[in-house]
Amino acid sequence: MSLVPQPFTPPRRAHIVGLGIAVPPQVLTNDDLAQRMDTTDEWIRTRTGIRERRVSTPDIATSDLATQAGRMAIADAGITAESLDLILCATTSGDYIWPSTACILQQNLGATRAAAFDLSAACSGFCYALATAAAYIESGSMKQILVVGADTLTKQVNWSDRGTCILFGDGAGAAILAAGPPDAGVVSSIMRADGSGVESVWLPAGGTRTPITTELLEAGNVGLEMRGREVYRFAAERVPEVIMDALCSVGLNPSDVGLLVMHQANLRIMQTVSERLNIPMEKVFVNLDRYGNTSAASVPMALCEAKAEGRILPGDVVVTVGFGAGLTWAANVIFWQGAANG
Ligand code: ACO
Repeated sequence: MSLVPQPFTPPRRAHIVGLGIAVPPQVLTNDDLAQRMDTTDEWIRTRTGIRERRVSTPDIATSDLATQAGRMAIADAGITAESLDLILCATTSGDYIWPSTACILQQNLGATRAAAFDLSAACSGFCYALATAAAYIESGSMKQILVVGADTLTKQVNWSDRGTCILFGDGAGAAILAAGPPDAGVVSSIMRADGSGVESVWLPAGGTRTPITTELLEAGNVGLEMRGREVYRFAAERVPEVIMDALCSVGLNPSDVGLLVMHQANLRIMQTVSERLNIPMEKVFVNLDRYGNTSAASVPMALCEAKAEGRILPGDVVVTVGFGAGLTWAANVIFWQGAANG
């Protein structure tokens, strides 16, 4: 059954008018990992496409990266923090369980007028947040929103689980959304979830169900857990489907896509999606080799680098897509107008 929404043209749309990126300085290569555990650069590269990732030192928390990326996006858009109506931070590794990391950002940036909240949709977080922020702008209730995807999952991984710890890196990406003409901007967003997959990839301990105890700590059972093959199959199935649905909802097909910006989890997943949709890999942006899986940060980090490299030009159809814990997945179609930032 198709869940494609009915076409709807609001009087205004959300346009991405500024982008930012931040990563911690410390680089951890596959060879570094091979010195710590039973793995090899060759295994990691061929199974995932990852060569190195950035890791936060203890003094760097998620809000530090998010603030840096947010400042860059604000400068890129040529606006002031005071003009923001909302800060929406997609993260599953916030500084604290509560209050939100978005409130820390609000304070750091001096965005005194802005409301602030976090959104938890793991690696789909930025695409969910883009959809949510776009809806506020389309409704006319807000004009300028800072959307951030930021995670420091290297602080949550179990470093004795070689099947997962090699995948993740830390980072933040940010976008300024501003109200603009209805014939461009974020023209379609589709968000999906399947809670039957809660245990496919999760952080089981540390919440109210399973608080962290001395016993859990001593057993080393407090990190992220993932059934890799299950998540891989889910992504290979659902990602092409949600991209197609998002494109179809605005009368487009895969050949119209100028750039596909996917969650950077595994190069093989990207190649599978590319083959299934017949979108050549030249149109699929990849920076996973340098950053690994940065969860909610991966899509905005990739958008920012793609824009800086001249891979996104005014008039392009850009598709962003995320997938991850929940299970969640989402796609956005953006007619790039590039108003304030060319
Ligand atoms: N180095 C060397 N060998 C390893 C390593 C490693 N780092 N990790 C696992 N192996 C071994 C396993 O022990 C196994 O050995 P065996 O055959 O002797 O038992 C073998 O390699 C194969 O292991 P698999 O786990 O089956 O490997 P697979 O090919 O499935 O690759 C991977 C694992 C890379 C994790 C893949 O399943 C994957 O990318 N899955 C999707 C992950 C993803 O997209 N996550 C996104 C969401 S994350 C989020 O939301 C927070």
